Amino acid sequence: MLVDILSLQQIYCILVKIGNIELRDKPLLLAPMEDVTDPSFRYICKRFGADLMYTEFISSDGLIRDAKKSLAKLDIYDYERPIGIQIYGHLIDAMVEAAKRAEEAGPELIDINFGCPVKKIANRGAGSGILKNIPLMIEMTQAIVKAVKLPVTVKTRLGWDEESKIIAEIAEQLQDTGIKALTIHGRTRSQLYKGSADWTLIGEIKNNPRIKIPIIGNGDIKDAQTAKQMFDTYGVDGIMIGRASVGRPWIFKEIRHFLDTGEILPPLTVNETVALAEEQFSRSLEWKDGMKGIFEMRRHFSLYFKGLSHFKETRLKLVTSKEPDEIFGLLHEIRDKWGEKEC
Ligand SMILES: Cc1cc2nc3c(=O)[nH]c(=O)nc-3n(C[C@H](O)[C@H](O)[C@H](O)COP(=O)(O)O)c2cc1C
Repeated sequence: MLVDILSLQQIYCILVKIGNIELRDKPLLLAPMEDVTDPSFRYICKRFGADLMYTEFISSDGLIRDAKKSLAKLDIYDYERPIGIQIYGHLIDAMVEAAKRAEEAGPELIDINFGCPVKKIANRGAGSGILKNIPLMIEMTQAIVKAVKLPVTVKTRLGWDEESKIIAEIAEQLQDTGIKALTIHGRTRSQLYKGSADWTLIGEIKNNPRIKIPIIGNGDIKDAQTAKQMFDTYGVDGIMIGRASVGRPWIFKEIRHFLDTGEILPPLTVNETVALAEEQFSRSLEWKDGMKGIFEMRRHFSLYFKGLSHFKETRLKLVTSKEPDEIFGLLHEIRDKWGEKEC
């Protein structure tokens, strides 16, 4: 009987396939985020059910010059699989070389960043800057797909600005290069992170009968309800969650539970949140050199305990202290003072 149920599940459970990577139906992806999605944060997100995760973006120039910062971002661990390494750059040769090096690090896929809006990057024609040069975007993607054996995916935006929302045209061209999935953030480059994400075009691309690769929607998913709404309204194959996971990595579990049952999980207690913060902080200190492990935790600390009443003074100490022992002491204090409260 058990065997029958399992095989029935296998028959009816539609998988999302990215090349040879099989993901469950309605996969939840952790968005790549510079200075955020390092191994310590990914560890926590994986525990809460992120189905596919990515490294922070890695400069192709840095990687081929063996820059320490870029090489460190290649660190991936078995418990994180499947994982993608994301690269960016404006030169085809450097991107091809970087893709090969990334492949050697053993991820499940290589993702190309065609969406970063940061001036320094976009003005050089990398990240979202390439949205102004589609022939280069296509040629670069083709060259990378050809150079590596792993599945290659692309993450991009709707277009450069309101007047050039070209994503619908380029989606087919990108598919023709041989990429295995396309993630679309529903904003233009000129919007940066302002306004709200527009998923209409994402839905149109998903419903284009000529598009066969998985389409992953991204932008402004803030809770279980918006996640379900995006799946239901736009029919995307997967959704990618960025900012809402910071300080709330259990969002993956909340979304999955809501998709499966229609019920909202109760919030975590502060005790539980402190345990997560401690775990992440320990791993951050272990993985990063010097003060970086402390500095990069500050954003997480302040979001983990957002909304606690009378927390201002403790918060300030937590995000200014440079001493790991003091920070662990503060986390104990939070547990003592607010432990049973909900986050
Ligand atoms: C701090 C920060 C760093 C980011 N770094 C990257 C990155 O390295 N690569 C990338 O493709 N997108 C990056 N993004 C964009 C996110 O992956 C995502 O597309 C965007 O935040 C929209 O999704 P959200 O509304 O769920 O946050 C970054 C966003 C933030 C806020």
